Amino acid sequence: MSVLLSGKTVVIVGAGPGFGRTLALRAAEEGASVVVAARTVTRVEEIAAEVRAAGGQAFAAPVDATDPDSVRALRETVAERVDAVHGLVYSAFAVPSMKPLAQTDHEQISRGIDLSVLGALRTTQEFTPLLEAGAKDPVEADDDTAAASPTSGRPPVSSSVVMMASAVIHHSRERYAGYKIAKTALVALGHSLATELGPRGVRINTVAPGYIYGDTLKAYFEHLAGKYGGTIDDIYQHTAEKMDLRRLPSEREIVDPVLFLLSDAASAVTGQTLTVDCGEFHN
Ligand SMILES: NC(=O)c1ccc[n+]([C@@H]2O[C@H](COP(=O)([O-])OP(=O)(O)OC[C@H]3O[C@@H](n4cnc5c(N)ncnc54)[C@H](OP(=O)(O)O)[C@@H]3O)[C@@H](O)[C@H]2O)c1
Repeated sequence: MSVLLSGKTVVIVGAGPGFGRTLALRAAEEGASVVVAARTVTRVEEIAAEVRAAGGQAFAAPVDATDPDSVRALRETVAERVDAVHGLVYSAFAVPSMKPLAQTDHEQISRGIDLSVLGALRTTQEFTPLLEAGAKDPVEADDDTAAASPTSGRPPVSSSVVMMASAVIHHSRERYAGYKIAKTALVALGHSLATELGPRGVRINTVAPGYIYGDTLKAYFEHLAGKYGGTIDDIYQHTAEKMDLRRLPSEREIVDPVLFLLSDAASAVTGQTLTVDCGEFHN
């Protein structure tokens, strides 16, 4: 049986029906107790119920990541149930302006930064005490000789924050400008938080997916097929031609690298951006 996240509590902020749902199910499969949070209460409750029906542990809670009071309320709800959080995934996202900067007003850019960057910052700051508690070694108090230390052979325990960026950070296509600004700033935030919270045992990394081939992208390809002619398969093949692997990553293929970063297998990985795009960009 796989136990990558055994005994850990993982909070997902901005859990949607695609990536967020798959992440909740996979994290629970790997032994985590999962908190599923977003604004749409019915959806996060459905995801949590699906996790429980599959034999996992999960509960749902509302959160608006742009509202400090709401993020505080989420932290309080979580703290009523657990003493520590070991993993936090920030994936809140709203479709940005898809126009060049000349046709994008500053208010749209500000909203993108508020959700992607400040939302990630306020969520991480609010959860830092619980994440710090998650980085305390459970066996340390019982057995001095087994205590984890840089020289004992057993790595110190850490907790982990993963923020969802995008492979948009690697290109400058005009219509993605607003999105690129927000996701690039998110990567910079990840670097700074990694430096600031590393001494407290909290690792911070970002994951940059290219395309995620799920229902949302399928619907978009259907739209493109209708607009330009051809089939969804034609659009898929045309898009996949740019990838080394000649295909697009599935939701699960984006989720599993996130699980790795949440796990102790990544105990020395912090301040990094992991691009997951079937080889469209090399960095
Ligand atoms: N899909 C892709 O192809 C792709 C590619 C590259 C990167 N990514 C990144 O991967 C992550 C997940 O993508 P996705 O396609 O699964 O996104 P998604 O389906 O849109 O899910 C993101 C969720 O964020 C929630 N959200 C929006 N505003 C929020 C707020 N103020 N507070 C809390 N939650 C909020 C939304 O749920 P509520 O409306 O219920 O709050 C939404 O369901 C995102 O960060 C995205 O930028 C996606």
